[in-house]
Order: sequence, then structure tokens, then C-alpha cells
Amino acid sequence: MKRCFGLLLAGCCSVLATARAGASTTKDAFDWDSITPSDDLEYHDCYGGYKCARLQVPLNWLNETDARVATIAMIKLPAVVPDDDPTFGGAIFTNPGGPGSSGVDFLLVMGRYLRHTADKPGRRHYEIISFDPRGIGRTAPASDCFDNNLLARDAFLLENRGNGALTNGDGVIAYSMAIMDAFGQRCQQAGEDAMAFVGTPNVARDMVEMVDKVDELRKREAAARESENKGDDSAVRTELRKRAAPRRKPAELGDEPGDVPRLQYIGFSYGTVLGNYFASMFPGRVGRLILDGVCNIQDYATGPGWLTNTVDSDEIFDNFFEGCAAAGPEVCALARPSDTRGASDIRRRFDSFLSDLDQKPKSVLLDSGDVVVVTSWDVLILAGRVLYNPAPLFKVLARKLNDFIAGDLTQMAVMALGLGMVPAMQDACPLDRANVTKPTIVIESQNAVVCSDGDDVSGKDLAWWRRYVRSQLDVSRVFGATWSTIRMPCSGWRIRPNWSFKGPFTTPDPDPALRPGRPAAPILFLSNRLDPVTPLRAAQAMAAQHPGARVLVQEAMGHCAVASAPSKCTRRAVADYFESGVIPSDLSPCNVECRPWDTSCPATDDAALHNNDDEMEAMASWFNRDEAVWHRKSPLGLL
Ligand SMILES: *[C@@H]1O[C@H](CO)[C@@H](O)[C@H](O)[C@H]1NC(C)=O
Ligand SMILES: *[C@@H]1O[C@H](CO)[C@@H](O)[C@H](O)[C@H]1NC(C)=O
Ligand SMILES: *[C@@H]1O[C@H](CO)[C@@H](O)[C@H](O)[C@H]1NC(C)=O
Repeated sequence: MKRCFGLLLAGCCSVLATARAGASTTKDAFDWDSITPSDDLEYHDCYGGYKCARLQVPLNWLNETDARVATIAMIKLPAVVPDDDPTFGGAIFTNPGGPGSSGVDFLLVMGRYLRHTADKPGRRHYEIISFDPRGIGRTAPASDCFDNNLLARDAFLLENRGNGALTNGDGVIAYSMAIMDAFGQRCQQAGEDAMAFVGTPNVARDMVEMVDKVDELRKREAAARESENKGDDSAVRTELRKRAAPRRKPAELGDEPGDVPRLQYIGFSYGTVLGNYFASMFPGRVGRLILDGVCNIQDYATGPGWLTNTVDSDEIFDNFFEGCAAAGPEVCALARPSDTRGASDIRRRFDSFLSDLDQKPKSVLLDSGDVVVVTSWDVLILAGRVLYNPAPLFKVLARKLNDFIAGDLTQMAVMALGLGMVPAMQDACPLDRANVTKPTIVIESQNAVVCSDGDDVSGKDLAWWRRYVRSQLDVSRVFGATWSTIRMPCSGWRIRPNWSFKGPFTTPDPDPALRPGRPAAPILFLSNRLDPVTPLRAAQAMAAQHPGARVLVQEAMGHCAVASAPSKCTRRAVADYFESGVIPSDLSPCNVECRPWDTSCPATDDAALHNNDDEMEAMASWFNRDEAVWHRKSPLGLL
């Protein structure tokens, strides 16, 4: 660790590090600097059983003479069979959403469950690949407005938090616009060169490159195997010659033959945005595409932005109260035997707790020395996070709210720290990024993508933002304040993207015969019946824009179907689609195995018991990871 801003912080570091053990600064178990970045894909063993690579791509895909590069951190969970096995089905790429989330982190927690989901034992086996997209995590260059000065970033975040919820009135909005104006200037000075190139069109083009490089490596290795058998290296030489072919310019990708390497992909949340850009920009590169937890791409890429995500969230929160009343005090800590009017009695207790907090925010002094002022917004942020994962978390939320209402807000304050609602000041200690180890999601990673992809809203005035915040609140009471903050940094954002794509977000008719410029299969969309941030109606609207596409509905609440509750039916649909590329016309809804007020979840309990089965154990640990869910950081993502 370098110098730690003197004694004050040196002292606080150790205290906070203990108080927040398990937060996002644990040491990365793999040293990415040990890999020399390369133009061709070169895997290295990492994280015990995974393969990692640092692939160099042009920073600027639109200017061939621009020699700058981006170095993409890639990770692969190998298939359970070797590449030359007849059941090997190639690579499935995945993205966990965000924007701003690390695909590497995601693969490490979800990879084995995804492989289990897509595989058909004995018939079809895949490797799973993910990567940190531009400006995110271990991919370079980083989106960084603070020149590695983590204390300065935390100070900015603290001031921003102290300003309060944007729904608290004009004063807050006006002050926020001023903070974001300074932030925007700072970002332009510090990171314009990097952050002009993090927009989703660049990432989609990077995926084409990764698909090509995965294919090249596979052919090279196959040629090497063949040569070894025949004792003749002409096959290897042929492959090496091909490898030297120049990269195609984006415009030329439209004129490719049909038998080019194609993407197999499952993207979640913002990952559906990435998938939709990919399909719309490079339809001839689509092999199989599953988009789960679907974002309305027009609302994402154009207009004020982010105004349609949360339309179903209040209904899920209503269901929390209804379900609590139905489950009764034995199961739901918020219910009372004396309640005569069920959910509305419970709701009234919650509402009056919130309005009391509005009248009088509570200050909590923690043993660590941290002072945390808890507001009603903190409680709504917490509730909002729970709506992403009702199955494991509704019961937990009921217990916590019950404690809060009883007057014990210590846990709320501890959670506010742990959840990152209050900036984690211990981050300020290791000043050199090389030793910060595992990346935290920095605010710029998200902002740079959100502001690049969306329309330019810098220069909008107070009245415009007042209307914007009002609209967010009209859409959702739970999420209004939180969702307003996503676009707010764009009010001062000055960096315009080098590459912008505004649609049309559509694809030509798919053709399994691999015809040039056409997807090999229609897109399969997945959605829960009720999703707090990517509603079913968005999935239906997006499917209507892609010929042949259909929506599989999972009868559950939560964010993203595959990720929110175990469902054999959904898993089967995913595996069938990856194998055949066909979406049945009688696509009926899928049930799930675990529901929010169930006292146990047999699917994951069984999986945990039979822990000799690697894949089932992976499933249990994904669905039982309460802790990680509480630490969720990205609005449209699984991490
Ligand atoms: C392309 O990049 C080169 C090298 O950085 C630069 O000199 C040139 O101006 C760029 N071209 C355009 C059209 O921006
Ligand atoms: C990171 O920390 C280790 C041990 O604390 C030290 O040896 C190493 O030089 C540091 N790396 C950098 C880049 O400062
Ligand atoms: C991006 O850069 C290329 C080449 O440097 C340039 O021709 C193009 O106009 C730029 N695009 C935008 C949107 O600035």
C-alpha cells in the first residue's frame, strides 16, 4: 500500500476494513498483470479451472490509422468435454448487465450454473466466455475521472449523497446539476480519450472480434492436432497465413459470407441492450441469441432515457405486502396477529415509518466511528434491491423492516455502508490501482456508457430535469428517486461518443442455412411475469422488432428469468434453443421451483445436499447468495 493520506485515514482504514469485510475490495485471486496483452487470443490458467486472456483491439474501430488499443480482460469456463469431442457446442458468450458490471466477476459466480443451464449432458456441451467491457473492471483503459484518486471520488460521492434524493425538490436538483457539471468537466479533462470509446457499438464490435479470435484459435489448435497425427505441419501453416488477414472495418462486416464465425450469447438486463445492438449492427454474425431481462432499447438509446424500466416495480412491492399478510406472522416478521385488514395494515406501518423518517432523518453513530444519516430514500433503495430477488429476500426484508420500524436503525446504517449507499472510504487507502485488486464498480464506468449511448441531455435546464424526476416518480414510487440518478450525471457530461448507433434495432429474417447478413436463428427473449426494472412489456416490444423472435414468460417476480429463481422448464427451453436454434410456436409460460414465502427451496436445498455435483452446487450457491445480492451495485445488472 502506498502512503495513506496520513494518520487519520491510516487509522480509519483498518477499522473500516474489518467493519466491511466481504465488501468489494478483497484481493483479486489472479494477477492479470502476469498476462502480456496480445492481438491473438492466448489463454492462461486462472482462478483454478478457468482460462483468462487479455485481447488487444483497436481503441477506435472507425480510424485504421489510430494505433491506440483497448485491452479486453476475457475469461472462459471450459466445456466439460474437449474441443474435438463431437458433443462440443462451441462458446456461449455472456454479459451480466450494468452497464458497468464486470463479466469476469460474473463468470466466476454464475459460469458453472450457466453451463449447467445450456448443456445437454451427453449431447451438447459448451464453454462459457465473458469479459469486462470497455472502461470496466480489468479492461484497459479504465473509465476514470479522478486520475486514480479514490479519495477525491469518495468525497464527490459523499457530497452527492448528502444532497439527498432528487425527489426532495428543486433545490436538490439544482445543486445536483452543479455537482454534475463539475464532475463532467473533470471527466472531460481526465478521461476523454478513453471514455469516448466505451459506447455499446464499440463493445458489440469487440464481440465480433472475440468471436473471430475464438474461432481462429480453435482452428489453429485443431490444425496442430492434425499435424501431430500426420507428422506434417502444412495445416498449421495454412491457419497461420489466414490469421494474418487484416481486420475488417465495421462497414465491411455487412458484406461477409454466411459461414463466418457466429455469436452464441445469453445476455442479462443491460446485456440485452448489448445483444440488441450486436444483432442490429451485425445480423450476419448472429448464431444464437438469448436476451433475458429485456430493456426497451428506444428508451435506452433515445429521448430523455430510462423512463420505462420500472413500470412494474410498485406492483411487485404491493405483492410483498400481500404475500406477507397471506404468509402470516410465522413466516413474515412484518405481519401481526392483530392485523384485521391484512396487507393494508402492514403497508400503513411501513408508510408511517417512512414519513416519520422524512420528518426526522435518523443519525446513527456506529462503533466504527462512521456517522450515517438514514433517510427514507435509503429504505427505498434497500426495498428496491430486494425486488430484484424476491425468492430469497422477501422474508429477509420483512425481518429487517420490522427491526427498523421497532426503532433499531443500526442495521440500516451498517447496510447503507455495506451496500455502497455511503461511499466505502476504505477504498481511499490503496492509492495505486494495481494493488486495489478486484475492481469495484466505479461510477464513471456506468456513466460513460449511459451518457454515450443515450441522447445528449447536457444543457437541459432545471425545469426539464424537474419534469424528468417527476416522470420517474410517476412511473414508480419505490424506484423514482433512485432511477432519477442514473441519467443525472449526463446533465454535465461533455464527452460525446466517437461511435453512435441509434437503430433501427431490428434484424432481417433469420435463416438457419447461414445466409450472408442474416441471423442463423431468431432471437429468444426471456422475461419474468413481473420484473422490477425490465418489464415484460419491454420484452414483447423488442421481440416485435425482430422477425421470428418470441418471448418466453417465466411465472415469477424478480430481475431476469434464469437468474431469479430455479426453473427446470426455463433451463430446458434455453438448452433446446441453443441446440436447435428453433423457438417452438407453442411457447407456454414456465413455472419456477421456489417462491418468495416458501419456507425452504427444495431445488437449491437438494442441490446443496448433493454437493458432489459441481453444477448443482453452483446453482445452490447462485440462488442462496443473499450477501452478494445485498451488495448489488448496477441498476440494470445481476451484480
Ligand atoms: C485518425 O487517427 C490519426 C492518428 O491518430 C489522426 O491523425 C487522424 O486525424 C484520425 N482521422 C480522423 C478522421 O479523425
Ligand atoms: C503491491 O503491493 C505489494 C505488496 O504489498 C508490493 O510488493 C507491490 O510492489 C505493489 N505493487 C505496486 C504496483 O505498487
Ligand atoms: C470517430 O472517429 C473517426 C475517425 O477518427 C471520425 O471519422 C468520426 O467522424 C468520429 N465519429 C464521431 C461520431 O465523432
